[in-house]
Amino acid sequence: MIKRLTTISIATLVAIALTACSGDKKQAETKTYKMSAEEVYKASCTKCHGAHGEGKTEKKTPRFDDKTVAELEYSLFDIKKGGITFTTGTDHEIMEHNMQKLIDQGYDYDIKTMAQYIYSTFKK
Ligand code: HEC
Repeated sequence: MIKRLTTISIATLVAIALTACSGDKKQAETKTYKMSAEEVYKASCTKCHGAHGEGKTEKKTPRFDDKTVAELEYSLFDIKKGGITFTTGTDHEIMEHNMQKLIDQGYDYDIKTMAQYIYSTFKK
């Protein structure tokens, strides 16, 4: 009987521990943003990158429709982290500067979601 109780309580403890861990993980993954990637793009990225991600010569912006989702993700990662943690071999100095301003204004986004949005919306 005692042995059985011990087995049950160990199982319970394991279950609680697992629930606690997955709870933490979920919280870290679901950082909430005020706007969706689409809303952020339309409100803050369009003026430099164009409504169709076509790029603008006068703003010196590259086009997005020839990029893979992985390339976009790397670039956005580089841009958001200020190029400290990752180097893509591209120069994102202007964009890094812009990004800090955009984040201060509340235009923050999830890198993967934004890369996916840009890719699926503008790909040729
Ligand atoms: C004030 C103008 C401006 C705004 C606003 C702007 N960008 Fe940019 N962006 C640039 C310029 C200029 C470049 C290219 C040079 C550089 O990266 O510094 C660039 C580069 C990029 C790149 C890299 C593309 C590549 O080929 O490596 C990505 C991705 C990007 N921007 C995404 C965004 C997103 C997402 C937003 C909105 C949250 C945004 N940009 C808002 C000017 C802007």
